[in-house]
Amino acid sequence: MTAPLIDPFARAITYLRVSVTDRCDFRCVYCMSENMTFLPKKELLTLEELDRMCSTFVGMGVQKLRITGGEPLVRRDIMTFFHAMTRHLDCGALKELTLTTNGSQLERFAGDLYAAGVRRVNVSLDTLDDDKFAAITRWGRLPQVHRGIDAAQKAGLRIKINAVALKGFNEDELPAITEWCAERDMDLTWIEVMPMGDIGNESRLGQYWSLEDVRATYAQFYTLSDLAERTGGPARYVRLEETGQKIGFITPLSHNFCESCNRVRLTCTGELYMCLGQEDQAGLRDALRNYPDTAEPLRAAIRAAIERKPQGHDFDYSRQRLDGQMSRHMSHTGG
Ligand code: 5AD
Ligand code: SF4
Repeated sequence: MTAPLIDPFARAITYLRVSVTDRCDFRCVYCMSENMTFLPKKELLTLEELDRMCSTFVGMGVQKLRITGGEPLVRRDIMTFFHAMTRHLDCGALKELTLTTNGSQLERFAGDLYAAGVRRVNVSLDTLDDDKFAAITRWGRLPQVHRGIDAAQKAGLRIKINAVALKGFNEDELPAITEWCAERDMDLTWIEVMPMGDIGNESRLGQYWSLEDVRATYAQFYTLSDLAERTGGPARYVRLEETGQKIGFITPLSHNFCESCNRVRLTCTGELYMCLGQEDQAGLRDALRNYPDTAEPLRAAIRAAIERKPQGHDFDYSRQRLDGQMSRHMSHTGG
């Protein structure tokens, strides 16, 4: 084990989010255009490279790995990679191996994920209405995701639902989605929609619904109490007194959580983003690919990148709307 990763602001980097593909079997309107051009295969890190990359980070103190995409479970043979990570769980260096998925492939992979040591899964789901689901995801079908969630729970995976809050789209479903999560003992987090990537000029199915307003809507149905708990990320939590549920709110564009930021993001091409809200990135692929027999150049590149992690981001929604969007897609950076 080498020295842990500490950034210039004394924050320990213990959480790595890794996008393993930019591809997805859905085309959510806020994420992708209907006709996406995906990266050529040779640009992607191979599964072996992903293993070396993640293992190097784990050796430098990363304790939590979240696998994202695109849709991570559409990457060919991705279970080989999950199973390869199990050794880091077994030796105790890695505390948590998890993923964010649209749920479409969970029916197939839930058992394998559990066997690899995954215990919790985030499932992105914005509506419980079949037609609305088909409209917002364009290519997705809700029954398939329901079967995936059933399979995951049966396999013993704990589920958190992530719902993107969209005014005029799922606003009216807030109580129904909340009750559904309570019945199934799933956590629920609302995410504010972010202006990201070129998703075409088609009108959005829903509009920006601020989480302050989501919270106000909750207050019409439930008694809320704020929880102090933070996870180093942008989520805040409230407890619904009537059901005991803990509901999360993720406002990715607010920056009141930067001082506790413990994470960095790796794209499927091996670029490390030190901050979700800034464009600065460090290409790690060459240090990995050009030195197959030693991890030292990669470690040096990682350390140099962490040295550049900014104190906070100046990514603010009003300015983004005036000046256009972040040019990269969520599916590239990995949520
Ligand atoms: N704004 C907010 N969330 C988004 N996601 C994808 N694109 C956006 C966006 N523009 C979310 C998905 C999922 C995760 C992978 O990222 O809903 O929860
Ligand atoms: Fe796929 Fe997730 Fe993007 Fe939807 S939001 S298109 S499920 S990556």
